[in-house]
Amino acid sequence: MGRRAAAYRAVRPILFGLDPERVHHLALSSLRVSAALAPGRAALAFLFGAPPRAAASDPVDLMGLRFRNRIGLGAGFDKDGVAVDGWAALGLGFVEVGTVTPRPQPGNPRPRLYRLREDGALVNRMGFNNAGADALAARLAAVRPRLPDGFVVGVNIGRNRDTPDADVDADYAAAAAAVAGVADYLAVNVSSPNTPGLRDLQDPDRLVRLLDAVQQAAPGTPVVVKLAPDLERGAFDTIATRLADGSASGMILSNTTTARPPLVSRHRDEAGGLSGAPLLDGTLESVERARELVGSRLVIIASGGAGSAADVVALRQRGADLVQLWTSLIYAGPGLIGETVRA
Ligand SMILES: Cc1cc2nc3c(=O)[nH]c(=O)nc-3n(C[C@H](O)[C@H](O)[C@H](O)COP(=O)(O)O)c2cc1C
Repeated sequence: MGRRAAAYRAVRPILFGLDPERVHHLALSSLRVSAALAPGRAALAFLFGAPPRAAASDPVDLMGLRFRNRIGLGAGFDKDGVAVDGWAALGLGFVEVGTVTPRPQPGNPRPRLYRLREDGALVNRMGFNNAGADALAARLAAVRPRLPDGFVVGVNIGRNRDTPDADVDADYAAAAAAVAGVADYLAVNVSSPNTPGLRDLQDPDRLVRLLDAVQQAAPGTPVVVKLAPDLERGAFDTIATRLADGSASGMILSNTTTARPPLVSRHRDEAGGLSGAPLLDGTLESVERARELVGSRLVIIASGGAGSAADVVALRQRGADLVQLWTSLIYAGPGLIGETVRA
């Protein structure tokens, strides 16, 4: 274990003694405050992350964008984009903010986030709590001039819970239009388990219509689709092939799962989506299958269970172009960013 990982492990029991959502907000505010001034950003890189030179030593061009490295932050960690320059200071190559909906909404009642510590996992049923697409757009417009070259900002978009099903395309289009000028790519989220009906949008014909609406609302912005890990094999194959034949730029594999593999932690039966270590095998398989099906026609972003440098290397070998971290940051701490970037 490195020095940074050991230091994080030392403070972890204090953090894990507090309510998970409270710690989450604390961590985000600390990152936001630390990154507000240049010396703070330098300190973050020095203490926790990949220093700027390491972070930019292996750039890659995908979807018409330059990524300074292949490691990103998955959606839902910084839904409202409050600490984007902090994530850059920690050495990531990209961040995906959101899910953002056209109108602000509070999400589900608390508690809605659980640690499954013995399993290296989380269960959440947040329900797209966010401040709305216009607020996010304003925040990103303010921070973009300060971001380093090659640091990519994706925006993950979704529907408001109370929007009638008949108006869902307009919801995604409104969110896309609001952030089009400040997003390097858009991620169309049709896979979160905590908004009723959302996953039905994965029906291939339905999905193609939805993507048309998004692309018309944000012409020229690359669009990727974030799929659920719970699709049947046949449905997965059909969607991947349709996306590759159409105008999408990529896919994110995958989101949290409603399945419950064997788990030991107390909160394993809480309702919501499971994330973290138990997802890794499934992510490796779906990345490999997708790469077989789509060849080089789509960018593949792995999301689910990556928790070490070795995991990132394995995902790359199966065909992932980019890898997102999320749950493992809670268990391993921000030092994981530097480790994976170097790998
Ligand atoms: C608390 C929490 C909130 C999340 N919110 C979102 C979200 O708003 N939109 C989304 O597309 N994914 C969301 N995710 C899913 C993550 O982006 C990621 O796909 C998933 O956690 C699997 O990756 P991991 O195992 O590395 O955590 C959320 C995950 C967690 C744990």
